[in-house]
Amino acid sequence: SLRHTLSLAVVLAATAGLAHAAPASDEPIQPLEAPKVKNAGMVELGKKLYFDPRLSKSGFISCNSCHNLSMGGTDNLKTSIGDHWQQGPINSPTVLNSSLNLAQFWDGRAMTLKDQAGGPIANPGEMASTHTLAIAVLQSIPAYVAEYKKVFGSDKVDIEGVTKAIAAFEETLITPNSRFDKWLKGDKKALTKDEIAGYELFKDSGCTACHNGPAVGGNSFQKMGVVEPYQSTSKAEGRVAVTKEEADRFNFKVPTLRNVEMTYPYFHDGEAATLTQAVDTMGRIQLGKSFTKEENAKIVAFLKSLTGDQPSFLLPILPPSTDATPRPTP
Ligand code: HEM
Ligand code: HEM
Repeated sequence: SLRHTLSLAVVLAATAGLAHAAPASDEPIQPLEAPKVKNAGMVELGKKLYFDPRLSKSGFISCNSCHNLSMGGTDNLKTSIGDHWQQGPINSPTVLNSSLNLAQFWDGRAMTLKDQAGGPIANPGEMASTHTLAIAVLQSIPAYVAEYKKVFGSDKVDIEGVTKAIAAFEETLITPNSRFDKWLKGDKKALTKDEIAGYELFKDSGCTACHNGPAVGGNSFQKMGVVEPYQSTSKAEGRVAVTKEEADRFNFKVPTLRNVEMTYPYFHDGEAATLTQAVDTMGRIQLGKSFTKEENAKIVAFLKSLTGDQPSFLLPILPPSTDATPRPTP
């Protein structure tokens, strides 16, 4: 239909102007490369903090509770559960490859991983602590203070350093070597016939207008419901909450599709339980396309080839609390 053609043109025009979208090859998707670790000490400290539930008021919730690195960096829940079993308003996006995002959160309200990391600690619906309390906990643990001093040169722990270290750890959470990447780099046996057919469908149908670049997304905000409105169960308004521009209502950050097999359920409201469902919805409401069962299965097969090497490290052992450490409170 004309309406459909027009909306597609809008999408393509919007995408063409993106600084992050410039493809390095003639493929719309580029391989992920393993990150170079700049400061191993800072990464190690950030890893401990990422796993430390004492950054929460209850002493029970860590970053890893909602971004579980054993489960694709998500909680696999529709919306997250926070302090006092509170049901959060929105689906938890993966932390894997999040350093490639143009901004953090579904509406992009944090520009950097460092800016983001202070949020959940003090969010009453998430970890429900305060920065003052979280710092007091860390400051009371000599092993943390010593490690902090080695990294930052000061024995006064502060939120600046804490969020910087968490962000440095997150920057290492890149997942290279997916079968799709091997195929892109020339190993033509790395994908099956159906997976290649799925990639062709993904390109030819127009999915790569929004899901492109090394992260297969993460580099633009787009309308959820270009061709048909999306009936959401959540109150999230999207990017308009940040820009106050009506044109940004219901625009969300296009999520990365790296490791998407592991990051169910899908969409900001977590309403799509399966990839089959998510692909069907995307086809209909973003592109005005109804995929056959076979086409859908091929696209899903391609998407599953985007699962890369998951983070791998020794489980961090956290220094124990001391007599001076503020105790968790229910
Ligand atoms: C979003 C990291 C704790 C639930 C994010 C994002 C990052 C992140 C990087 C943005 C990802 C993206 O937009 O693609 C962290 C870190 C934490 C932490 C470092 C610990 C300090 C938690 C906890 C919960 C949680 C404990 C659940 C109770 C969420 C949710 C979002 C989110 C629901 C999406 C919010 C929105 O877009 O409005 N987190 N997170 N996070 N995280 Fe966390
Ligand atoms: C979300 C696939 C086309 C923009 C998603 C998700 C999948 C997906 C699996 C869920 C990811 C997650 O929640 O972690 C596809 C496929 C497409 C396609 C297979 C082609 C048939 C498009 C197009 C656009 C777009 C053309 C831009 C106009 C988005 C946005 C989201 C999303 C904004 C997040 C929406 C929300 O949660 O509110 N896509 N996509 N997609 N995609 Fe697509």
